[in-house]
Amino acid sequence: MSKRIEITDLNVYYGSFRAVEDVTMTIAPKSVTAFIGPSGCGKSTFLRTLNRMHEVIPGARVEGEVLLDGENLYGPGVDPVRVRRQVGMVFQRPNPFPTMSIKENVLAGINLNNRRMPSSAKDELAEHALRGANLWEEVKNRMN
Ligand SMILES: Nc1ncnc2c1ncn2[C@@H]1O[C@H](COP(=O)(O)OP(=O)(O)O)[C@@H](O)[C@H]1O
Ligand SMILES: [Mg+2]
Repeated sequence: MSKRIEITDLNVYYGSFRAVEDVTMTIAPKSVTAFIGPSGCGKSTFLRTLNRMHEVIPGARVEGEVLLDGENLYGPGVDPVRVRRQVGMVFQRPNPFPTMSIKENVLAGINLNNRRMPSSAKDELAEHALRGANLWEEVKNRMN
């Protein structure tokens, strides 16, 4: 499950503004890597390039290469949705999808993956998740 990320000559732009300049580095599997720097130095921008989330901002673009176990995430024909299934992001603050209710947000992953589950189980799962129970443990129990 754990993969190696190799970044080569990465430049990240907002229009003509280059927010991240010439990054080349490797992130080893099963390692913890921290990005430390002052506000506005490009930490979040850089992280968003690792799962193709930067390009959803109008005018934003990426130059360079990001390999996930050897596959270039920016290669032709690579599906960004598949990339985002493999490279997740946890945000500093909750980011619910604004067009969905909180319950729909909590169940979004389950529904997107077409997990069959009675609606009473979904209700229970949503409540457990919001009360701080471990979502994944709940899902596994329901699948067994
Ligand atoms: N959506 C955006 N449009 C234009 N410029 C942006 C946008 N988001 C961030 N920036 C600029 O990119 C630079 C890096 O920002 P950011 O990655 O948020 O820094 P950090 O996460 O390290 O605080 C900053 O100069 C910021 O103003
Ligand atoms: Mg940030």
